[in-house]
Amino acid sequence: MNLSGKHLVLGLTGGIACYKSAELTRILTQAGATIQVVMTKSATQFITPITMRALSGQPVYTSQWAARIDNNMPHIELSRRADAIVIAPASADFIAKLANGLCNDLLSTLAMARSCSLLVVPAMNRQMWQNPATQRNIAQLCNDGIIVLGPDAGPQACGEIGDGRMLEPTAIYEAIIAFFQPKTLEGQRVLITAGPTFEPIDPVRGITNRSSGKMGFALARAAAQAGARVHLISGPVALATPWGVSRKNVQTAQKMYNAVMKAITDTDTNIFIAVAAVADWRAAHVSNHKLKKTVGKPPPPLDLIENPDILASVAALPSPPYCVGFAAESSELSMNSEAKRRRKNVPLLIGNLGPKTFGKDGNKVVLFDTTGSTPLPRADKHSLARTLVDEIAQRMPGNICA
Ligand code: CTP
Repeated sequence: MNLSGKHLVLGLTGGIACYKSAELTRILTQAGATIQVVMTKSATQFITPITMRALSGQPVYTSQWAARIDNNMPHIELSRRADAIVIAPASADFIAKLANGLCNDLLSTLAMARSCSLLVVPAMNRQMWQNPATQRNIAQLCNDGIIVLGPDAGPQACGEIGDGRMLEPTAIYEAIIAFFQPKTLEGQRVLITAGPTFEPIDPVRGITNRSSGKMGFALARAAAQAGARVHLISGPVALATPWGVSRKNVQTAQKMYNAVMKAITDTDTNIFIAVAAVADWRAAHVSNHKLKKTVGKPPPPLDLIENPDILASVAALPSPPYCVGFAAESSELSMNSEAKRRRKNVPLLIGNLGPKTFGKDGNKVVLFDTTGSTPLPRADKHSLARTLVDEIAQRMPGNICA
């Protein structure tokens, strides 16, 4: 599990977003983390310690005078056991306390006494968030090395719309996972293509394939968790954008090619990972009206022309990013993959025996690079994505381990 063995203190302060912390606790415990909930007095007005105890499976602390801890020092004991402290929701008042080193309750005291990292997830009305005092305090937290997550923008409990909503529990979970990942791609810009392309024939028909996009999206997530700035260019898929990743949707191979070239021109891309199952051909003529069937007449001819090879084009640029290709072969994996790697002139190609893997969560791949081939054990797409990110990081030019 993603957070097995991790011990987190989850601090709740007063705010309506406390209801989201119940869901967050459930998600974190299901991911294998031990959650020690600590609540301020105001937080207990919004959700009861009984609810949080039931969800975390641990006694909840609400007072620095709790005698349950042997040495009577919960503020020291609870923070020493933690791998990280997460304050969600963090009210404007609590943020002000943290920024100024005030500690007059258990949660603020243990945050001061901590020897681990502190992640703060603000939640407040948009005017409170924009108030210069809050902005000063947030800047102070960032200067002090505290990680601030969010806030989100959108409708608020008070009926107003704007910045200040607490991040959704799944986004906080993703940020916590990212926090614990080694930052093997820190400072790198990664561009990834994913999913199928759709090549229209007429307004209702087209050529596509069964790529689900799962592998490309898992790689985008893993690269972002490893500290990279990730931009994803995706064909038509029904997948949520991974946390911290920017995304552009395209339909056709030509549009994907244009988007990739633009991203490479506009930004200093260090790594390009081509996971998309790009259609090799498109219809030579796209009809503006639906092609009609005429009984007794033969079907209309379908002339095809070749699409640009995005990966090969990027690899042929004068100073290309580090290029990684994917190949799903139906036979002769080694021979076909290595030939494809050379033909596209890329330093690394990840091959598998597909298309049986399309849409599946598990995958077994072999790495082909200039030194030969390395098979990796079968793994689910998220674990595999992490391994692949490490393999890419190690091979990056300039890496001392390469
Ligand atoms: N690729 C690409 N643009 C294309 C075709 C493929 O960027 N027009 C990339 C894919 O994203 C993948 C790699 O090239 O990373 C290999 O894709 P694949 O479809 O296996 O390659 P093809 O050259 O189309 O070879 P095949 O004849 O086996 O389909």
